[in-house]
Amino acid sequence: MNPGLEALQPYPFQRLSQLFSGVSAANLPEIALTIGEPQHQPPRLVTEALMEALTGINHYPSTTGTPELRNSIARWLEQRFNLQHVDADRQVLPVNGTREALFAIAQTLVTPGAPGRVISPNPFYQIYEGAALLAGTDPKFVPANSASGFKPDFSDVTSDDWQRLELLYICNPGNPSGAVMSEKELSTLIALAQEHDFVIVSDECYSEIYPDESAPPAGLLTAAANMGHTDYAKCLCFHSLSKRSNLPGLRSGFVAGDADVIHKFTRYRTYHGCAMPPHHQVASTVAWSDENHVLANRSAYRAKFEAVVPILAQQLEVTAPDAGFYLWPSTPIDDLDFSRELLRRCNVAVLPGQFLGRWVNGENPGANRIRIALVAEQGICTEAAQRMVQVLEQGW
Ligand SMILES: Cc1ncc(COP(=O)(O)O)c(C=O)c1O
Repeated sequence: MNPGLEALQPYPFQRLSQLFSGVSAANLPEIALTIGEPQHQPPRLVTEALMEALTGINHYPSTTGTPELRNSIARWLEQRFNLQHVDADRQVLPVNGTREALFAIAQTLVTPGAPGRVISPNPFYQIYEGAALLAGTDPKFVPANSASGFKPDFSDVTSDDWQRLELLYICNPGNPSGAVMSEKELSTLIALAQEHDFVIVSDECYSEIYPDESAPPAGLLTAAANMGHTDYAKCLCFHSLSKRSNLPGLRSGFVAGDADVIHKFTRYRTYHGCAMPPHHQVASTVAWSDENHVLANRSAYRAKFEAVVPILAQQLEVTAPDAGFYLWPSTPIDDLDFSRELLRRCNVAVLPGQFLGRWVNGENPGANRIRIALVAEQGICTEAAQRMVQVLEQGW
């Protein structure tokens, strides 16, 4: 049996249902702000394209995807990230959502059985940890806490650690904090990747949800190109239609960057057998080629943050994130107790922050914080915020 399986931790939502079992929720309609599953409508032009392309299912899809899909992704990347050129054939690979690809990339990059081959931020998207464990290594965690502006703090990473490293996960914009790393911070990591020969896996699935139209979050490939690395050596960015286009069920995303790594990843995936279904490829081509629905989506999130944050700020220390759709406030009492009490007193479910982090040297950067996913429609989110404020006003 793969020993990594024993090391896997229960998923945050499993822990949440355990935490909530036995709590009798207030007699109000339930509002769940726990899962980061977009509730806005998917774009009609994509769902229509999906249905029209159903006849495609009588063919096996290829792992590399259609040239049309790769081209639409390459052109989108060039425009969104101000890149001179992205080679659609060598530098782009469609994947079935970033989750499976963030997992699978560790199988390609990591030497099994060797310790210290993966570094992950803490707190983090739990797939990074599982990917490291099942690839036969143990992840080293770097804190992303309030002291570092919720960005990963690499100050405890030694030059031996960098030397051993094969895969560095970063999440930019971050989940859960929404913090965005600057181009300069990304460049520092790219220089380290070149020096110590590791690959940066930049999970950018929240990159299209941001408040200021004139200041979109920086991307890893832009930082690489602006350093003169137009081949994006040692850099991979991971993008998804799940959050950008409200299509989490389509399972569609892509990986782009270093052509050598993409080539090896394609080889791995050919054996893994995870080509995107043909009609999903057609729908994805349409989605990456349209920006109007993305603009509308962003403005819906913007309106929601503008409505919800001032309500919560009456009782919580909370600010709108740099990007993404989560709030990450600190709690007046232990985050587990706080989450249980909210459920009991107003039937609002939030995710305790410590479920998203690990205890390292006595610190879990998620402890005494909660993650609030503002994915529901605005009226539901404001109702939840008002209920929370009432509970907070009553005290403990
Ligand atoms: C940080 C992060 N990365 C990746 C994913 C996976 O998204 P998908 O597989 O839908 O692209 C999620 C989903 O919530 C996430 O929060």
